[in-house]
Amino acid sequence: MDNLADIKGAVKHLAIIMDGNGRWAKLKGLKRTEGHKEGAKTVRKIIDLSGKYGIKYLTLYAFSTENWRRPSSEITVLMSLLKEFLELNRRTLIEKDVKLKVIGKKEDIPAVTRTVLQSVINETKNNKSGQLILALCYGGREEITHAVREVAEDVKNGKIKTKNIDEKLFSSYLYTSEIPDPDLMIRTSGEFRISNFLLWQLSYSEFWITDTLWPDFDESDLVEALKSFKNRKRRYGGV
Ligand code: FPP
Repeated sequence: MDNLADIKGAVKHLAIIMDGNGRWAKLKGLKRTEGHKEGAKTVRKIIDLSGKYGIKYLTLYAFSTENWRRPSSEITVLMSLLKEFLELNRRTLIEKDVKLKVIGKKEDIPAVTRTVLQSVINETKNNKSGQLILALCYGGREEITHAVREVAEDVKNGKIKTKNIDEKLFSSYLYTSEIPDPDLMIRTSGEFRISNFLLWQLSYSEFWITDTLWPDFDESDLVEALKSFKNRKRRYGGV
């Protein structure tokens, strides 16, 4: 293993498109849902590794606005996996001082899962060491249009003036207000797409794509991504 000190803390906010669960299962002759179950185990590992590598914010794309197009049986498994995951890991989040946050159309999350989510959010709301941000029923375009509606409402009711709308103010209307933009975005399973994920927030993030399927993603992949990030020159449009 390379020197931990070299990469620790380099990435403050890591965002991940966890892709390839279905293909992982197919390759093994299993049902797609088995891939999601294995993927949930990887989620737990990455939470632990985030602490080790000084990642303060971890955003995971767990269910997109487009994922509603999947067969209802698969959606049911995904939502119950999420509930199970929270029940199994709530103590860990509390012990590790990690705050849970959800970004997305929370109201669309089925009630049984939403209830558990809300209770873990309440139990961890004062935690400070790290944040686990789950993107659920999330779409970047939905987030932006939702923010536009809220801004328009606040202009109408006189809370803000049109001339004062700038990037900083607009950002405060997004689901991610108070969270810094991701430094690094990882996508597994070799797809070079953004898939409606954090469209506003990824403007200046570095991307790292790996062929590894999400259930197989491990510490060596993460270290490779962090090392690659460390060697990038971020110019933010400058020279
Ligand atoms: C993409 O793989 C993955 C998803 C749409 C869901 C991600 C869910 C998990 C990792 C498990 C539960 C989540 C948590 C937070 C506990 P895919 O199904 O699109 O794979 P494919 O492209 O190979 O078909």
